[in-house]
Amino acid sequence: MDSRINQTKLIATEDDVTPTVLAAMEDTSDPRLKEIVTALVRHLHAFIREVRPTEAEYEKGLQILNTIGQQTDDAHNEAVLFCDVLGASTLIDLINNDGMQGETMSALLGPFYRGSAPECSFGETIARSETPGDPLILSGRVVDVNGQPIAGATLDVWQASPDGLYENQDKDQADFNLRGKFTTDSDGRYLIRTVKPAGYPVPTHTTTGDLLRAQNRTPMRPAHVHFIVSAPDCKTLVTQIFADTQDAMVNDVVFGAKDQIAGNLRLHEAPLDEYPQDQAPFYTCVYDFVLKPGVPSFPEPPIKGKVS
Ligand code: DHB
Ligand code: FE
Repeated sequence: MDSRINQTKLIATEDDVTPTVLAAMEDTSDPRLKEIVTALVRHLHAFIREVRPTEAEYEKGLQILNTIGQQTDDAHNEAVLFCDVLGASTLIDLINNDGMQGETMSALLGPFYRGSAPECSFGETIARSETPGDPLILSGRVVDVNGQPIAGATLDVWQASPDGLYENQDKDQADFNLRGKFTTDSDGRYLIRTVKPAGYPVPTHTTTGDLLRAQNRTPMRPAHVHFIVSAPDCKTLVTQIFADTQDAMVNDVVFGAKDQIAGNLRLHEAPLDEYPQDQAPFYTCVYDFVLKPGVPSFPEPPIKGKVS
């Protein structure tokens, strides 16, 4: 039946709106676009019917949408932040990465991935300027789901300074401080020198912060280091390794913490034979990343650079 026949009748009541709008979209050429937008209309209208917003509330909602765009610039991504605190990013992450083949669990990308980090040699430090915090040596292997090491895998790593800011948020940190790209050796091993991460608050000076305050929620994330691990013919892994208490992990404001990606940090109060040039005290964390077969793909960086 030609759906446009439905539109010969003008909208008269609340109940007419959804079928009329869906009928108007009937000729969408791209089937996936049609599925997405018609589902959006059905759920949006159902949401509106449930909440029955006043006109003032609708105005406020539209203002919030506009501020999310206005507050986004090269060094800040409000849309990512907003969707992260609503749990949408973690839900989408788990729908697309269920861990069922034995691969390492993923975690949300977050708004602070810059891309184009400098290439680092095996064991190089990513602390590029004076950075507080205890030294941390991260090491392990990148392997496939059969446990075979993957030589030449790439680990793109980034973390906040223990004083709570990513370098792009902080004029006092060197460009690309605590960011770097490492490659596994012929045994699939990687070695990264950095500082022990600390928990930090997500940015709270924008719309998302207003929401968190209204909800009496903590803005804190548990301490973690971000990784994008990739290799040819493997699904790219976007994840985070956590270095915090169970309590901090349970209360992650963006719901990214998972048991399987909790790192096991060990404090060394005396030098280790393995790392003769590293002065104690320092921490080590050994973690093996497991990649499953797939086609590599890389997220668009949510930000481009530093605050000016
Ligand atoms: C991270 C920070 C955020 O503000 C967010 O929304 C998600 C993740 C992070 O740095 O890990
Ligand atoms: Fe982070």
